[in-house]
Amino acid sequence: MDADDKIECVLERSVQRCESPSAPPLLGKAIRHAVFPGGARVRPKLCFAVAAACGDGRGLDAAAGAGAALELMHCASLVHDDLPAFDGAAIRRGQPSVHSAYGEPLAVLAGDALIVMAFETLLNECATSPEVLSPLMTILIEAVGAPRGIVAGQAWESEETIDLSAYHQAKTGALFIAASMAGAASAGLDPAPWRALGERLGEAYQVADDLRDVLLSEEELGKPAGQDASLLRPNAVQSFGVAGAMARLKSLVADASDAVPECAGAPMLRQIVQAQAVRLMPKSLLSKVA
Ligand code: IPE
Ligand code: IPE
Ligand code: MG
Ligand code: MG
Repeated sequence: MDADDKIECVLERSVQRCESPSAPPLLGKAIRHAVFPGGARVRPKLCFAVAAACGDGRGLDAAAGAGAALELMHCASLVHDDLPAFDGAAIRRGQPSVHSAYGEPLAVLAGDALIVMAFETLLNECATSPEVLSPLMTILIEAVGAPRGIVAGQAWESEETIDLSAYHQAKTGALFIAASMAGAASAGLDPAPWRALGERLGEAYQVADDLRDVLLSEEELGKPAGQDASLLRPNAVQSFGVAGAMARLKSLVADASDAVPECAGAPMLRQIVQAQAVRLMPKSLLSKVA
C-alpha cells in the first residue's frame, strides 16, 4: 500500500468508528462530509514523507497515524473556520461547507468530534509502537492548543491589533511544524531539527493561500474567493503586492528546501518540497501574474 492509500485507510477507519449503529446518524454523516473527499492532504503526506526519509522503515505506521491525526485536526479547524461565527463560508473543497449541508449545531459538534477523534486515532495507530506515543502527543497538543496552536491562530482575529507573524505561525505554521516533527518522532528520532522545515513550508503555504485568495475564482479555489479583503484579514498581497508576495513565496520554498536536515532521504524530501512549490504556483496562478 502506498503512502496516500495508507493515510486514507487510517482516516476511513476513524470515520467509521463514528458511524456505529448506536451513534446519531446525522453526526456521522457530517463528520464524513468534513473528511471525505479530502483536499490536498498535504500535512499527513509531509509527516509520512519525513518518516520515510529519516527512518530505516521503522515508524511508518505511527507516521500514518500521526499524519491522519493532524489531518483530522485540520478538518476540524476548517469546519469551525467556515461557521458564521468565523468566516461564514458556504463552500469548502468544492462542496457545501459542513454547516451549509447539516446546520450549525451539527457543524460545531462534528468539529468537536474530529478533535477528539484525532487523539483517539493517534492512540490506536500507535498501539504497536507505544514508545513514540508520548512525543507524538506532545507535538499534536502544541500544534492545536491555546498558546501557539490553531486555537491561538483563530483567536488573534478577535484582537484589536494582530501580531501578523504569530497569527500566521499559529493558524497555518503550527500544523506544518507538527507534521514535519511528527514524521521524525515516528521514526524514533529527535524531532527538534525538523521544526525549521515545517516552519518555512507553513509560511510558504500561507503566502500561496493569500495569493490564491486574491487571484483565483471561487470555482478554481473550491472555497470563497477574496475572503481576506471582505473579512479585513491580513494578506501577503496587501502587504507586499502580487509580485512581492510571489518573490516571497519563491524564497520561502528555497528556504524550506535548505532546511531539510541531512538524512538518507534528504534528496527525495527536497524534491517533494519543489513539487509542492509547483502545486502552490500552478500555471493558472502564474498566468495571472505575468
Ligand atoms: C486551507 O488548508 C487552510 C489554510 C491553512 C490555508 P489546505 O489548503 O491544506 O486545505 P485542504 O485540506 O487542501 O482543503
Ligand atoms: C483557515 O484559515 C485555517 C484554520 C482554520 C486554522 P483561513 O480562513 O485563512 O483559510 P481558508 O481560506 O478558509 O481555507
Ligand atoms: Mg479563517
Ligand atoms: Mg476561512
